[in-house]
Amino acid sequence: MNSSVTTEHEKKAILRGSGADARTFRFPPGLKYNLPFYVFTKFRPADPIGLFQYLTQRYGDIVHYKIGRQHILFLNDPAYMREVLVVQNDNFTKERTVRRTKLLLGEGMITAEGTSHRTQRQVAQPAFHRQRIPQYAQTIVDESLRLQDSWREGQPVDVGREMVHLTLRIVAQTLFNIQLGPEVQDLANAINRIMGLYNYLVTLPAVETLIRLRVPGLARFTKAKRTVDAIVYHMIEEHRLSGTKSGDLLDMMLESTENQEDPCERSRATDALRDQVITIFLAGYETVANALTWTWYLLAQHPEIERKMLQEIGTVLGTHHPTWDDLPRLRYTEMVFAESMRLYPPAWAMGRQAQNDFVLGPYRFPAGTTVLMSQFVTHRDARRFAEPTRFNPERFAPSGRLTFPKFSYFPFGAGFRQCIGESFAWMEGVLVLATIAQKWKFKIAPGQRVQPQALITLRPKYGMRMTVEKR
Ligand code: HEM
Repeated sequence: MNSSVTTEHEKKAILRGSGADARTFRFPPGLKYNLPFYVFTKFRPADPIGLFQYLTQRYGDIVHYKIGRQHILFLNDPAYMREVLVVQNDNFTKERTVRRTKLLLGEGMITAEGTSHRTQRQVAQPAFHRQRIPQYAQTIVDESLRLQDSWREGQPVDVGREMVHLTLRIVAQTLFNIQLGPEVQDLANAINRIMGLYNYLVTLPAVETLIRLRVPGLARFTKAKRTVDAIVYHMIEEHRLSGTKSGDLLDMMLESTENQEDPCERSRATDALRDQVITIFLAGYETVANALTWTWYLLAQHPEIERKMLQEIGTVLGTHHPTWDDLPRLRYTEMVFAESMRLYPPAWAMGRQAQNDFVLGPYRFPAGTTVLMSQFVTHRDARRFAEPTRFNPERFAPSGRLTFPKFSYFPFGAGFRQCIGESFAWMEGVLVLATIAQKWKFKIAPGQRVQPQALITLRPKYGMRMTVEKR
């Protein structure tokens, strides 16, 4: 890291703050103008990745800009990211950066802070324990088989939609012991509608008030959220009424909120439970579904890599379906999944907000500064990944992994808020790929446009229509 301040860009940047800021703080290079000016003249508001790429190409690995009076930093340097996510993590919360996500998720584990976050993480942890994960493998394989049995030779399918249905069912059964029926479609549709509005929810000022005032356009959000809530409350109620305890995650969550005698407290507890359940649901299905969709797309474009993966699957499994025990030998399949998440990381950006003034390298920033990082941008940095846009699973061969530093590949985040479902996701990804690839291959439908869209997760903007063919 260069600690001396030398360039003209940097000298101007340091003086760019206003009032007291200019005397006390040292800012790195960045935009001279307030961001909205740039966003609206140069970028569409719906293209945050384009903006981040522009910033880092023009100004470097640590970039400063402002929106109104708000200081914002964009980081593309693994050493600085480590500082924020691990070394100085006590000073950073997710507060401002998840404010709009709370419209859907309320105060679940992803959006909660402090004691509430710690308690939720403790309650959920046993469900993600290393000893627990193998029990989920059979359900993952069974559900993958069930899905593929519904396909017919040459049938066109939207792979994104198929993967969403699959991962929704998997998360419902493994973590909540619930068999989702036709409501799977309603739930996926409602969440899709909310996702479609997400960038507007993020950019509109005072959106919470606009939603309360039922401003036209946002009524769609309210309606979709009502559908999601109704399904989740129904699931909670059914679980309560069934009275059976299988030790699943919903049991653990219910136990932690159940001892309320007072009806008001009980209702509050149910609301809290709703937030926790929908958070695990969304985090657990949407990310994996996207990762799998992008992987099928990449495999369809790279037949030589697909062949190599199939060869491994054939050697390891023969004609058997995969099990937990096969996972250590499905190495190449795992490398394919890893490389797919490098190019198309489902969680494409993360943010933090500083509680107190802080220092990064030669710079000093005020409390309240928002710090942004983007997996999409960092994973495609040519200094760390040769030919960064090439789909090359070999990068993740055991020897290859050593050539890029930690925090240059972070699809699951890092530090104490690292993804709780990471082991689950690796297992699910590899088992679904191996099960389906044994029998089917996907071909991209003619005329299918492919472009990533940065919503809460990274989705294919125009869907992913493919035809299924038997092997
Ligand atoms: C490919 C799949 C997945 C990806 C790429 C992914 C990515 C991430 C990332 C980047 C974070 C950290 C966000 C931040 O620090 O701001 C996170 C947190 C989280 N993830 Fe995942 N995730 C995946 C799968 C899952 C699964 C399967 C589950 C649960 C079943 C899950 C549940 C969560 C939860 C609850 C958090 C919040 C943890 C906390 O704040 O303590 N994720 N995930």
